[in-house]
Amino acid sequence: MHTIKTYNKIAASGLEILAGKGYTVDENAADAQGIILRSHKLQPEEITTSVLGIARAGAGYNNVPVDHCSEHGIVVFNTPGANANGVKELVIAGMLLSSRQVYPALAWAQSIKDQGEDVPKMIEKEKSRFAGPEIAGKTLGIIGLGAIGVLVANSAIALGMRVIGYDPFLSVESAWGMSAAVEKATNPDQVYQQADYLTIHVPQNDKTKGMINAEVLAKMKDDARILNFARGGLVDNAAVLAALDAGTLGAYVTDFPDASLLGRDDVIAIPHLGASTPESEENCAIMAANQLDEFLTRGNIINSV
Ligand code: MLT
Repeated sequence: MHTIKTYNKIAASGLEILAGKGYTVDENAADAQGIILRSHKLQPEEITTSVLGIARAGAGYNNVPVDHCSEHGIVVFNTPGANANGVKELVIAGMLLSSRQVYPALAWAQSIKDQGEDVPKMIEKEKSRFAGPEIAGKTLGIIGLGAIGVLVANSAIALGMRVIGYDPFLSVESAWGMSAAVEKATNPDQVYQQADYLTIHVPQNDKTKGMINAEVLAKMKDDARILNFARGGLVDNAAVLAALDAGTLGAYVTDFPDASLLGRDDVIAIPHLGASTPESEENCAIMAANQLDEFLTRGNIINSV
């Protein structure tokens, strides 16, 4: 029977599927036929000639050397949709946290913890500076209507938002799952121009790298808020910071912080937690394990990238 090498902590339910089918699952395997991994940045030299398939337990796969794998006939899988709900929930939270200035308000509240009986008076005096808009009635623009984009769209509609989305490759499955209330833009500029909140859900590749740049920011409303739960490289951070400093962008919420983004009230920088829920981790591990099993034992390729 085949051996599977694991990197990172893969949810037990996925590993149990493989073990239950007779695979040897070993993080130190030297001659594995399959690899299952999360965020480990896999180097070509770590892929032995015995490897036939690599399953990335997640949607993005830019931590796998796909070109090297293609050259060597190794099939790479990902698990689109398996963690979409986890990411969606954090996107919705990001919109609300940013609009309602929850972080600056909490930091200020913590800062007055030693003020004793003055606390209620201080709150009364200062609270108006932490006021922020409701999201109901505002326009959410979405670039990319795949599994995550559609879940975000449907939840935003349920919260009373107007949603306009753009996706040149809208799949039949996504179109079926999407609320009829989502307006379909015919070009991305319509989304950029109308969005009070803009969220991007596209893979990072040569075409999309840096897609949110100074040119796009100039098309957006001055108080718009951008959310990036897709990949850090999609957004030109320097351009975002310049727009925030110039007052031509309202806020930036990102799951991909770098040092330049930290310590500001107008940036919410989350350490890549979009899919960090037990549910998403299990769903991804189970899907990845089944993909490897189908491929290694029956030759079936499901969701290769
Ligand atoms: C994904 O690509 O699935 C998410 O960004 C979460 C992750 O990287 O594990």
